[in-house]
Amino acid sequence: MSFPITRLRRLRRNETLRGMVRETRLDRQDLVQALFVVEGSGRREPVASMPGVHRLSVDQVVLEAKKIADLGIPAVILFGVPAEKDARGSGADREDGIVQRATRAIVAAVPSLCVVTDVCLCEYTSHGHCGLLSGPADAREVDNDPSLERLASTAVSHARAGASIVAPSDMMDGRVGAIRRALDANGFEQVSILAYAAKYASAFYGPFRDAAESTPEFGDRRGYQMDPANRREALREMRLDLEEGADMLMVKPALAYLDILADARRTFDVPLAAYHVSGEYAMIKAAAERGWIDGDRAMEESLVSIKRAGADLILTYAAMELAERL
Ligand code: PBG
Repeated sequence: MSFPITRLRRLRRNETLRGMVRETRLDRQDLVQALFVVEGSGRREPVASMPGVHRLSVDQVVLEAKKIADLGIPAVILFGVPAEKDARGSGADREDGIVQRATRAIVAAVPSLCVVTDVCLCEYTSHGHCGLLSGPADAREVDNDPSLERLASTAVSHARAGASIVAPSDMMDGRVGAIRRALDANGFEQVSILAYAAKYASAFYGPFRDAAESTPEFGDRRGYQMDPANRREALREMRLDLEEGADMLMVKPALAYLDILADARRTFDVPLAAYHVSGEYAMIKAAAERGWIDGDRAMEESLVSIKRAGADLILTYAAMELAERL
């Protein structure tokens, strides 16, 4: 060899050396466990498209919350699956709604755990859209401004139940501002907003919609969620949410949008979250079940890449299984 070789391999020779120069480490504290809550008691139903994930009744969710806290995971995000749905999503802001009851029970039983609630109407509306509809029967549309009031009142009901962080995922314009004002007006100045700021209209939400029974009855969510092809627009969404009062920003999904996450990290100095969504989880589990990939390693590699791209927090269905291995 006549030319000098730069020897990067010197620091890769064994695990001790690799550990010493490792740039990114996953920590239990980075994780938020996603949970589905259903009505009834003693229910622990497997979600077919998400091996390892269950829909839990409130009593079971409390047991799970204890395990989560014991594993050193600081937070959970709750998704409610109500027994009844209607056009205005009445169940979303009910004092005794499913998420409100689960939040109260968790806060009472495991006070150290941070309860984050997903604020949206789609799990509660009979039509499955994230806001209220208006217009003629053959051309119904999600109506932005009337939806804001429903979302704000949902967030307030979650705060009243004891949620520390509310996370609006509906993608209506102006919802962060509406929620901030409503929280403040009701004495919840200390409740934070984690905005699903750059939330894309993604095919990776499929398994979630099975679990939450929230597939839209007609049409799709492209009229309010972001176009996967857009990068600059994500910065606009995030900037607006910050101006409206978001404390933290989220990019969702995660793996197909790491460029967005990296942009956000360079641009904003607030805490950033990324949502490793149901389809991202399901793909790894499905391939691992067939023996096509090493599921544990693929999961860890995915999550570390999300942190490397700039996320401070990762919302994932794999938080518990990962924390058990860390
Ligand atoms: C509610 C909501 C969705 C997800 C989180 N909050 C579904 C959707 O927008 O269709 C998806 C989460 C996942 O796929 O894991 N709007």
